[in-house]
Amino acid sequence: MSQMNDFINIRSHELQQNGLTDWTSEARSWRHAIDARLAELCPAFSCRVPALGRAMTDAVTAPGKRFRGVLMAMLSARLGVTSPALIDAACAVELIHTASLVIDDLPAMDGAVLRRAQPTTHVAHGEARAILAGIALMSEAFRILSALPGVYGATRAEAVAVLAEAVGPAGLCGGQDLDLHDGKSLASVTTEQDLKTGQLFDAAFRIVALINGCDEGQIAQLSVLSRGLGRAFQSYDDLLDVIGAGTGKTARRDRGASGPDKGLLAATGVEGAVHHYRAVRMALQTDFLSLWFDAQGVRDYVGAILPDDPPGPG
Ligand code: IPE
Ligand code: IPE
Ligand code: MG
Ligand code: MG
Repeated sequence: MSQMNDFINIRSHELQQNGLTDWTSEARSWRHAIDARLAELCPAFSCRVPALGRAMTDAVTAPGKRFRGVLMAMLSARLGVTSPALIDAACAVELIHTASLVIDDLPAMDGAVLRRAQPTTHVAHGEARAILAGIALMSEAFRILSALPGVYGATRAEAVAVLAEAVGPAGLCGGQDLDLHDGKSLASVTTEQDLKTGQLFDAAFRIVALINGCDEGQIAQLSVLSRGLGRAFQSYDDLLDVIGAGTGKTARRDRGASGPDKGLLAATGVEGAVHHYRAVRMALQTDFLSLWFDAQGVRDYVGAILPDDPPGPG
């Protein structure tokens, strides 16, 4: 814990002095800090019902990229705040994200058996416990966010409200429900992506903005970025689903393997999805360049996760 605090208490100018302007080592350090804090949070999951706690812990500690949390940290470091509250907020978002994956993999949703290169929660722990683990992980996320160290009153309450909105009917749940229906157009898939993927990026960035005291104009710029990111990220993921190799998750969940086609492919087919990805990826670059601060390192990190070129066979 003390080692992690030593790292996360340093301010952004110290990051530069310590040679962490190289985005690869910076992103790796943030990921380690988030993983370390998540590992500290997990034992409490088992305080009353160890079997449920194990299911939650397995889902959380499986090797995710921590993309949302690392992005929060990288953005916040450039805006000035690298306090422990930032890491807890990043963990809260990662817990929501993990819960959404547990639920997304259930037989009633995508029916996936592999996630983060491990058996999905319902395969390892049973369907009923996976449902409970998903709900409990979301509850823990809100509890952690409502107790951010050094963040009080209206700011805390607003952070919780922002995250709640991203999960609810106008966010993840709404988007996942749209995902279940067939008869897709590009416009309806884009709405689906905005809700099921973009809204969590938006909440993550809004929480960073709250912690950093950003003004309305700055929040609006971050919202544009989060929407572009959600569209590019989900489009790339849908293409990865067709290719299937190396993702550590059950492939071809979107391509009619368990019912009608889902996601972007249902609206455009593979070729259309490739064109669409290139377009949204280019738009995202513009969103980055329009920010009021120098986000080059963040842009480079995103470029490693979302290359300019769509994934292709081989
Ligand atoms: C997968 O997200 C779910 C989508 C929104 C497409 P990630 O690709 O970030 O999954 P992990 O956290 O690295 O496992
Ligand atoms: C669901 O989309 C993403 C969520 C918001 C949970 P996908 O079904 O494409 O995600 P993966 O491919 O299973 O990770
Ligand atoms: Mg899925
Ligand atoms: Mg997918």
